[in-house]
Amino acid sequence: MSSNIETHQIETRVFKPSKDFSKTSLVGSLAEYKKLHAASLKAPAKFWAGQAADLFWRKKWKTVLDWKPPFAKWFVGGQLNASENCLDRHLDGPRRNKAAIIWEGEPGEKRVLTYQQLHREVCVFANILKRNGAKKGDRVIIYLPHIPEAAIAMLACARIGAVHSVIFGGFSSTSIRDRIEDCGATLVVTADAGYRRGQTVTLKQNVDQALEGVTTVKRVIVFRRAGLDIHIQEGRDVWWHREAEYVSADCPAVALDSEHPLFILYTSGSTGKPKGILHTTAGYLLGAVITTKYVFDLKENDTYWCTADIGWITGHSYIVYGPLASGATVLMYEGAPNWPQPDRFWKIVAEYGVTILYTAPTAIRAFMKWGDEWPKKHDLSSLRLLGTVGEPINPEAWIWYHKNIGAERCPIVDTWWQTETGAMMITPLPGAIPAKPGTATLPFFGIDAAIVDDKGQEVGPNEGGKLVIRKPWPSMLRTIYGDKARYKQAYWSEVKGCYFTGDGARRDKDGYFWIVGRIDDVLNVAGHRLGTAEVESALVGHDDVAEAAVVGRPDEMKGQAVVAFVTLRNGIPATKELAEKIRKHVGNVIGPIAKPDEIRFTEALPKTRSGKIMRRLLKQIASGQAVTGDTTTLEDLSVLAKLKQGDE
Ligand code: WT7
Repeated sequence: MSSNIETHQIETRVFKPSKDFSKTSLVGSLAEYKKLHAASLKAPAKFWAGQAADLFWRKKWKTVLDWKPPFAKWFVGGQLNASENCLDRHLDGPRRNKAAIIWEGEPGEKRVLTYQQLHREVCVFANILKRNGAKKGDRVIIYLPHIPEAAIAMLACARIGAVHSVIFGGFSSTSIRDRIEDCGATLVVTADAGYRRGQTVTLKQNVDQALEGVTTVKRVIVFRRAGLDIHIQEGRDVWWHREAEYVSADCPAVALDSEHPLFILYTSGSTGKPKGILHTTAGYLLGAVITTKYVFDLKENDTYWCTADIGWITGHSYIVYGPLASGATVLMYEGAPNWPQPDRFWKIVAEYGVTILYTAPTAIRAFMKWGDEWPKKHDLSSLRLLGTVGEPINPEAWIWYHKNIGAERCPIVDTWWQTETGAMMITPLPGAIPAKPGTATLPFFGIDAAIVDDKGQEVGPNEGGKLVIRKPWPSMLRTIYGDKARYKQAYWSEVKGCYFTGDGARRDKDGYFWIVGRIDDVLNVAGHRLGTAEVESALVGHDDVAEAAVVGRPDEMKGQAVVAFVTLRNGIPATKELAEKIRKHVGNVIGPIAKPDEIRFTEALPKTRSGKIMRRLLKQIASGQAVTGDTTTLEDLSVLAKLKQGDE
């Protein structure tokens, strides 16, 4: 019997780019994409060298790639500065007074920063960093609300060659301390507080707790956002606005080697200790810039909104580095999508005339649950392109997005990538690649993606296996900070000579990639291996189901039994009869093999702060084990308690 992952559900709907859209796109047909992609794989160095002309270089590189597996150096000998690429290069032309960031706070304040203004703010803050001891190579923690200062602080670090590590504002003091200790940070940038669902989040207080017993951090710079009374530790803490009075707005960007570290971003490994993913300057920036250009098909007058937080890689690549280096107008919104009401996003789209919207499937499912009436209240006709990222989007959510937000007119780019890949890897080009609901479609230029079996052999059409990348690419992670052995082990030891993504996938007859879930989560039922995505998609396809997660529980007979955790749509009572109906529904859609053995209704699913379901915890709960390992990344700890209660 094959150990490959099986496919039971084939989605057949195809959405071709409209002629109008294709006409104005950089890549206007599938044939053109195919030609360019093939050429990029045939001569990668030539391809990447050509693309690198999009960046502003202080000194041109000598060698495109120095590859000593698994360690890559890109554009060796070159020098540049990411902050200069995002700011200074726009100041000489018509973009000088163009809005770089349009920001709205959760309580409703509005700010617009032009490129000239943003440049000035970044220079001021870079000087503040220097005045407070930050030097090239030092690690700086940024723990701020979703306000322009988060981008300003990142770009200020990049300007002087300090390495930023942004920690999402929802993380606790323990998570902050772990990260500070791991990277040996010397400086922390934070705020008194931020806002979330009308409440203040006391960031500075969390930092104070995190720093107890920490010796590396010499300075904490505090931005005043909420006007709270906070503890200021003499000799350690300073106010951003006070410091600004002592410095000038003149801070030339330093020329940095291509491989100078740009940032460390922690991603929660499934086993516990977070991994500090290290990205460097030139390759990362290039990946972010060219995907922004081709995938968002960016036009000079777009108003572009990525709803992710700056604390995730999505925010790094597609709020800050990609769009700003491209001279785009970026919208930033601080708060929750349902504050004060479930139409906040649509209000914002209408008010600012957003043209490109990039969000996550988990958000789309929440909008579906809240009801179609909320987007209907607003004029969304400014939108021209939609995107998703973060997890497989179930076809039902895709269609809802297409109809209710995109008015059946906007292409949807379902972009597959990872913190580690730095930039989009598998994604439609909106004017060229026909979309199918639920697939990220085809690899981006220069990306050699494949699906292999346990022996590392490429599998045939519709056979599931491990998703790997066979060639290095510029925006790949360089290592796990301080842990080369773990870097090798986690990414380069599973399949010989390839980068292992950790994801399971299959390719259909058109070569499209369908992510079926994480390899570690694949179910093994009576000798059949099933990905989680397909079963979950079938579950949420039932009218009464809002969200679902499936995990395997050890079972003597079948190897694993399928346990489905299900949240119902508002007002639907959880009954035994309904559970039975839902089981049957999955059986009908996929086949008897995937029929959950058990349905557990729950009010909410345990998710990370970025909206990913933590199946590892559900596995433990489903098999009656104690929940162990890192739970600090959990969005709402009470969910865990409730799930466990249901267990008794
Ligand atoms: C994992 C990476 C990359 C930004 C946000 C997440 C899953 C991501 C898709 C997609 C199917 C997706 C994968 C991947 N994932 N995008 N379009 N379709 N799955 O970054 O936290 O590093 O997570 O998210 O499983 O490996 P991340």
